Amino acid sequence: MVASVRQVVPIAFVGGARPNLVKIGPILRVLTNRCSRFIRRLVHTGQHYDDGLSGAFLRQLDMPAPDVYLGVGSGSHGAQTARTLVTFEEYLLSASPALRGVVVVGDVNSTLACSLAAAKLGIAVAHVEAGLRSFDRTMPEEINRVVVDAIADVLFVSEPSGEVNLKREGIAPSRVRFVGNVMIDSLARELSNARAVNMPSAIGVAEGGFAFVTLHRPSNVDVPARLRAFVELLDWLGNTLPIVFPVHPRTRERLKRLDLLPCLAANPAVHLLDPLGYRESVSFMAAARMVLTDSGGIQEETSYLHIPCLTLRPNTERPVTVTEGTNTVIGDDLRQAASLVSDILAGRYKAGHSIAGWDGHAAERIVDALVETWV
Ligand code: UD1
Repeated sequence: MVASVRQVVPIAFVGGARPNLVKIGPILRVLTNRCSRFIRRLVHTGQHYDDGLSGAFLRQLDMPAPDVYLGVGSGSHGAQTARTLVTFEEYLLSASPALRGVVVVGDVNSTLACSLAAAKLGIAVAHVEAGLRSFDRTMPEEINRVVVDAIADVLFVSEPSGEVNLKREGIAPSRVRFVGNVMIDSLARELSNARAVNMPSAIGVAEGGFAFVTLHRPSNVDVPARLRAFVELLDWLGNTLPIVFPVHPRTRERLKRLDLLPCLAANPAVHLLDPLGYRESVSFMAAARMVLTDSGGIQEETSYLHIPCLTLRPNTERPVTVTEGTNTVIGDDLRQAASLVSDILAGRYKAGHSIAGWDGHAAERIVDALVETWV
């Protein structure tokens, strides 16, 4: 009689930019604790390379050091995507043992390039956070989402709109799994640590008495008129309550170029900070009276935390945060923000309720599905 041989399955997880790490951390943890059938590799593309956007996240989320660092760095979309495609393909061709699957998350350029490289080599691709659509092709991430979902073999969906969108695009339902939101796994796990850091007190703002602001999308910060309008909005908001604003490197550079940084820095109500680690960011967010942002992940995190969120974009690819959560999409009319700020301060703003699958256990469902499909 022949003894049964336990098959091990080599798979790689791809992280490139800050939000990717928040999504991969929980999956790696569950995989390590619950399933010895995978050999796992963590590949960091190096799309984000500053410690504040990368190393701090790896440490705080208790993640293993990457097995491979591709060092692709910044550049135009074409240059960054092409460098990632070439270097990741080289890695895939040289990996030993050869990989059976690649897990990509989110919608950044690293997600696009690595899924393309893997799919062309016949390596199965799983996409975490599939199906989100802003229906705005001027947004680079929207192009990434559509392409990745078209070529991925397994699509893990975080909210109901994802299933509807994928069905409309003709993707076979057998490839799609609703697993909930893995970013919320990180948040649920880290929330008490984040509260303990008590960042508001460290910079002298009162719990529940400040606005937390983030801004980094090219459509906002690369358009001078729009960036000026935001600075005016912050100036106005600063008359009502203090503002905590960690500034993304792209945004800092654009503010400097337009000579807008001194004006913001001179306003005593505005606390301009360097990019924050995960724990510090959650510490501020969870204690804020309101959040103004153009981030995708923060729309989700604020909904989970029941903190009012005003999204400084014309659309969202995460509609459940509007229908079930605490998010309002402001669009181009920044005057709407002023009236909503009054509503929030007067206690008239929606509180939101809990969202299906945003329960801290999405990574378990993802690992179960990976075992079912790839082992
Ligand atoms: C990227 C993602 C965006 C995500 C965001 C999270 C794409 C298309 N965009 O945007 O979806 O919401 O990450 O932060 O993938 N820079 C640094 N240090 C770094 C990295 C970047 O200073 O470690 C500067 C560089 O000047 C670079 C600029 O930031 O040119 C933009 O970086 P990039 O990775 O191209 O896009 P993000 O704006 O960070």
